[in-house]
Amino acid sequence: MSSIKRRDFISSMGLAGIGLSVAPNLLFGESKTKFRRSNPNGKVNIAFIGVGLRGRNHVNNISRRDDVEITAICDIDKESLAKTQKILNDYSRPEATEYSGDEYSFMKLLERDDVDGVIISTPWLWHTRMAVASMKAGKFAGVEVSAANTLEECWDLVNTSEETGIPCMILENVCFAREAMAALKMVREGVFGELVHSTCGYRHDLRGVKFNDGKQPYGGGVEFGEKGFSEAKWRTEHSLKRNGDIYPTHGIGPVATWFDINRGNRFVSLTSTATKSIGLHNYIVNHPKGGENHPNAKLKWKLGDIITTVIKTAREETIIVTHDTNLPRPYSWGFTLHGANGVWNGQFEGKRLYLEGTSEPHQWTEAEEYDKIMKKYDHKLWTDEEKNAENSGHGGIDYFTAKAFVESVKYETQPPIDVYDAAAWSAITPLSEMSIANNSSPQYFPDFTRGRWMTNKPIFGI
Ligand SMILES: NC(=O)c1ccc[n+]([C@@H]2O[C@H](COP(=O)([O-])OP(=O)(O)OC[C@H]3O[C@@H](n4cnc5c(N)ncnc54)[C@H](O)[C@@H]3O)[C@@H](O)[C@H]2O)c1
Repeated sequence: MSSIKRRDFISSMGLAGIGLSVAPNLLFGESKTKFRRSNPNGKVNIAFIGVGLRGRNHVNNISRRDDVEITAICDIDKESLAKTQKILNDYSRPEATEYSGDEYSFMKLLERDDVDGVIISTPWLWHTRMAVASMKAGKFAGVEVSAANTLEECWDLVNTSEETGIPCMILENVCFAREAMAALKMVREGVFGELVHSTCGYRHDLRGVKFNDGKQPYGGGVEFGEKGFSEAKWRTEHSLKRNGDIYPTHGIGPVATWFDINRGNRFVSLTSTATKSIGLHNYIVNHPKGGENHPNAKLKWKLGDIITTVIKTAREETIIVTHDTNLPRPYSWGFTLHGANGVWNGQFEGKRLYLEGTSEPHQWTEAEEYDKIMKKYDHKLWTDEEKNAENSGHGGIDYFTAKAFVESVKYETQPPIDVYDAAAWSAITPLSEMSIANNSSPQYFPDFTRGRWMTNKPIFGI
């Protein structure tokens, strides 16, 4: 939707009369929903379920907004609640009501009238349960990545959102990365011509995060589970028991926006292949607190060190998604994009591009020339809001994620990354597990849009 059309839309939906300033915005979804705020003329009431490292990051970002009240917080860990109250206090905000005690305390929080939107930042296995319960309670759900673990959970999200009319946004922040949005603009302006292929992934050495001794948040020991800290408490277990791409959305989210997934295009099938698993075992054996006789050195890890998934789309493009978290390496999203007119490699893949007719034949365009081109396609969201984004997490992308969520709640519209995205992107995990378990056999994506991908129009960053 263009900003002019969007303004028409907003006024046709009567939103201009709700008493809050309604600026033309690049972050709304396209349609009004059945969701209604508790106090349409007041501030947006946001609650948080799970206020560990990531949840507190969201609390920090949202606390900066003067259109939000933070009414309630929930965590099974009292220390996390105390740290969250301190953040609120630092922003001169009132204490939020706390919910704790057992793993289902969040259900009590959801009974409150003064909660419009809920941000869920708990371990993966809680995401769908909490998002479904939120929607059933009439609360706009914002759920961390990935949104679901099984195909049944993907359908639960979609079916609940359709039945209740309440939206669900997957809080995939990498979609808002400056280079990803510039690439999106380049795609839309035809710079690469017809798209053919892309690579992406989550390539992050998490060995020290997974195995933490609780003393140094990111220093790394060799313990996990009850003896671990933050993600080491729950994420490491997935490496022990599952073999598949267990964290696909940071990579696939932006690629899905480039390829119009669920909006003119869709994921059709995938194959996944896993390597052997040696990274975690070696880490434990070689760590000063581990060694060959450490009990964790006896464990048999199921997760292959590198998982390579090839997705085919309805428009006959391919996308390679890589999961690579247990070997030594620098961080990367692995972004490359290939079209009829050339190829682009993002910041972690060399910052270079080749455009036929513009680049020297067979030579990469790099350095200042590359920067000049990327600047030319800088997305309006970034040029308008660079200053606001500056102090938020992950280089500014968390600012836009929080903004997209809060403003979708505020204006009662679908979010720009919706429940169908949550389902299609998260489905990569169970499908890749099935493929690996069956000798890399092809697996087929359900069509979570039930055919509407054929006529849906792109909304992200429009
Ligand atoms: N988008 C990003 O950039 C990004 C970055 C980090 C983490 N994440 C995601 O955020 C989520 C949380 O990660 P984290 O690093 O904050 O982990 P964490 O372990 O630090 O925090 C999880 C919190 O959830 C709480 N919790 C667990 N079960 C609960 C329950 N039943 N009810 C209430 N609270 C419960 C824990 O006590 C803990 O405080 C994960 O899904 C992770 O993948 C996303």
